[in-house]
Amino acid sequence: MNLCIVGTGYVGLVTAACFAEMGNNVVCVDVNQEIVEALNRGSIHIFEPGLEEIVQRNAEQGRLRFTTDLNEGLESSLFVMICVGTPSKPDGSCDLCYVHQVARDVGKNMTDYKVVVNKSTVPVGTADKVRALILEEQEARGVNIEFDVVSNPEFLKEGDAINDFMKPDRVVVGTDNVRVAELLKALYAPFARSRDKMIVMGVRSSEMTKYAANCMLATKISFINEIANICERVGADVNDVRQGIGSDQRIGRHFIYPGLGYGGSCFPKDVRALIDTAVSNGYEPSVLKAVDGLNMRQKRLLVDKITAYFADRGGIEGKTLALWGIAFKPNTDDIREAPALELIAELTAAGMRVQAFDPAAGDKAKEALTENSLVSIHPAQYDVLEGADVLAVATEWNQFRNPDFGRIKKTLKQPVIFDGRNLYGAEFLRRYELEYHCIGRVANASQVG
Ligand code: UDX
Repeated sequence: MNLCIVGTGYVGLVTAACFAEMGNNVVCVDVNQEIVEALNRGSIHIFEPGLEEIVQRNAEQGRLRFTTDLNEGLESSLFVMICVGTPSKPDGSCDLCYVHQVARDVGKNMTDYKVVVNKSTVPVGTADKVRALILEEQEARGVNIEFDVVSNPEFLKEGDAINDFMKPDRVVVGTDNVRVAELLKALYAPFARSRDKMIVMGVRSSEMTKYAANCMLATKISFINEIANICERVGADVNDVRQGIGSDQRIGRHFIYPGLGYGGSCFPKDVRALIDTAVSNGYEPSVLKAVDGLNMRQKRLLVDKITAYFADRGGIEGKTLALWGIAFKPNTDDIREAPALELIAELTAAGMRVQAFDPAAGDKAKEALTENSLVSIHPAQYDVLEGADVLAVATEWNQFRNPDFGRIKKTLKQPVIFDGRNLYGAEFLRRYELEYHCIGRVANASQVG
């Protein structure tokens, strides 16, 4: 099938590459000339394991092209997929200007029937708005060309996006039109071989499903973080509690790891956008507000622990923190809403120096933190320990899981680790005479690492 994908960001590029991989002809359109030229040379601008190889292979075999010209994409395509960004406005609502612009451009340029598929995360009612904008442009041209607008949200995790696209848990399609649903089923057949994986529903329910999924997952994280904070105060170990509750299948073992709060480009934004939708429709979303509020507090957790540690040791001003991990999670260079950024901002505002290392996000962090003279980003994991007082871990990259504790102990001025991801066991660290602060666990309880 022929597809036109608008937007070469995270969702657009993964979607384009995976559809091309299944033999479809894909034209990917982006307004950014530089990105398009780089993509046509086979070099990709986002960090996603396995993506570059698929892009290069399909480009070489002629199934994947990149252009700045929407008409080139529209010309022969039955499907037009909107995969552009929907950033947050300062009030938490979703900025739809890019989605609306694509809708207008499609209305201005289409010459035959199209299925317009919205993959961007958009508030309920956006598909109706897209339809209205296309109609408006057609009227202005004096034409009446048939089209359908479908909602088809993506559920890709950064760092594992190819796998999520190739083997989805489900493919959600929002449309009232049976014929269009069949077209989407055919398009997704190679990925969702079991027909049970295709879930067809109304457009508004589909738009809502994306928000409900992300908000449910964010709720799980804020919930376990709250339990961890209580555990810490009553002498319980959240690691044991997590396993104890996760064995109940209704709760499940996945996605209930406590930490420094959720970050990234989706959860914080989507929780706030759903709060905005609820409030503007006259409903007070108390659970969602609590989820968001707790997450903001959680991101400060290590700040409080580090400040408390230094309280009777001369304060944090003038001290140096070694920091492992800046990305909002492992296997990505994405630092959007990363807890590490909050940690750095708060500690340096109080006069502490931070020497940070991240296996992938170093360049982005350098760019984001150029103004902050108290932060330095280093290219090697153990370099940041030199001259540092204590060590903190903010991202659970694998290479931090089994580090050289002897070297940590020898290099730090004070043998203390603040672990925001519960990677280690206190008893094990005691052998190295390292003091250990983690989340939701008492330091002298039996810990399994
Ligand atoms: C998320 C959704 O998982 C995905 O389905 C959606 O399409 C986009 O948003 P992503 O933002 O890439 O994906 O990251 P994810 O792996 O879900 O992690 C989000 C955040 O939650 C990270 O900051 C992570 O550290 C945190 N998290 C995750 C926890 O704190 N505990 C957990 O148990 C799981």
